[in-house]
Amino acid sequence: MFPTRAYDCPLMARVLSGIQPSGDLHLGNYLGAIRNWVEDQGDNDAFYCVVDLHALTLDIDPAELRARTYDTALDLLAAGLDPDRCTLFVQSHVVQHSQMAWLLECTATMGELQRMTQFKEKTAGQESIRVGLFIYPVLQTADIVLYDADRVPVGDDQRQHVELARDVAIRFNRRFGDVLVVPTATIPTTGARVMDLQHPERKMSKSVSSPLGTILILDDPAEITRKVKKAVTDTDGEVRYDPEHKPGLSNLLELLAVATGRKPAEVAAGYTRYGDLKTDTAEALVELLRPLQARRAELAADPGAVPALLARGAAKAREVAAATYDRAAEAVGLLGPA
Ligand code: TRP
Repeated sequence: MFPTRAYDCPLMARVLSGIQPSGDLHLGNYLGAIRNWVEDQGDNDAFYCVVDLHALTLDIDPAELRARTYDTALDLLAAGLDPDRCTLFVQSHVVQHSQMAWLLECTATMGELQRMTQFKEKTAGQESIRVGLFIYPVLQTADIVLYDADRVPVGDDQRQHVELARDVAIRFNRRFGDVLVVPTATIPTTGARVMDLQHPERKMSKSVSSPLGTILILDDPAEITRKVKKAVTDTDGEVRYDPEHKPGLSNLLELLAVATGRKPAEVAAGYTRYGDLKTDTAEALVELLRPLQARRAELAADPGAVPALLARGAAKAREVAAATYDRAAEAVGLLGPA
C-alpha cells in the first residue's frame, strides 16, 4: 500500500526540524537546539529547513527576509550541519510545502487552531489578525509530514504545534487511509538552558532581551567578554549551583559547564570568586565559538557556496516531498496530471 518510512529504512529515524530566518543566531539557539541538530545528523536521516514562508507571517522587510534566510543557512552550516550528512534547505524552494498545507487546512479545524497558545500570545490585543498567522501551525504540519518525519526535535515552546501535527495527520489518515507518518516531538533534555545574562529568570531570546543579555554566535571575543563581565549575579558572594536562588550565577556555571563538557555543580567547586568564574566563562565561550566563526568567514568569502549547497538540499528535499504530496493528493481524490 502506501510506503512509509518504517518500511523504507527501519534503522534510521527520519528527523525534521525548522528554524525561522530571524537572523543573528544566539548562544541559546546554538546550545539549546542547533548543537542537537548537528549531533542528530550522524544516526538519523535528518532534514533541516529554514522556514522563510513562516517568516512572512511577521512584518518583515523583503530585502531583509532574503538576507536573513541566507545568513541563517550560513550560520547553520558554520555551526556544523554537514550537507553530506543531512539535508539542509529553504522551505520556499520546495513548493510542496504550500501545496500540502492546503490539503491539511482542509483537515484542521478553526477550534484547534484557536487553541494554539503561540497564536493567542502573538495576537493578544491586536485588531487585525492575518490569516497566515492563524494557519501557521498547519504549514508547520506540512513541513513535518512531507518528510515522513518520525521525530521532530524542538524546544518546549513548539510542543503544542507538534501535537497538532499529530492530530491532523491522524485525522487525515482516518479519512483517507494510511498516508501520513504520525510524528513525535522530541524535546532535548540534555541541551543547555541558556538564560538571559541581564534577566537570568528568562530564556536568552533575541526578541525580548536586552542586547547586553544575549550573546550572538558572531560576537567577537571583546564583545563576549564584555557581556559576560556585565552579567547580573547576586551579592551573597558564594559560588554554588542553585538555579532557583542564584539564577545569574548558575547560568554562568551552566555556560562554562557546557562549553567545557562538564557538570555545573562540578564546575562550581573550582571557584570562590565571581570574577574568576566570569573570566573563565568568557574565555571558554570565545573558544567554543571560535571554530564556528572561522568556518562562517570561510563560507561567506565565496558568495556562491551557500546557494549551491541550498540548491543541492532543495533537490533532495523535493524528491521526498513530491512523493508524499503526490500520495496525499491522490488519496484525497485530486485528478493528477496525465
Ligand atoms: N515554528 C517553529 C519555531 O518557531 C519553526 C518551524 C517551522 C518548525 N516548521 C517546523 C519546527 C517544522 C519544527 C518542525 O521554532
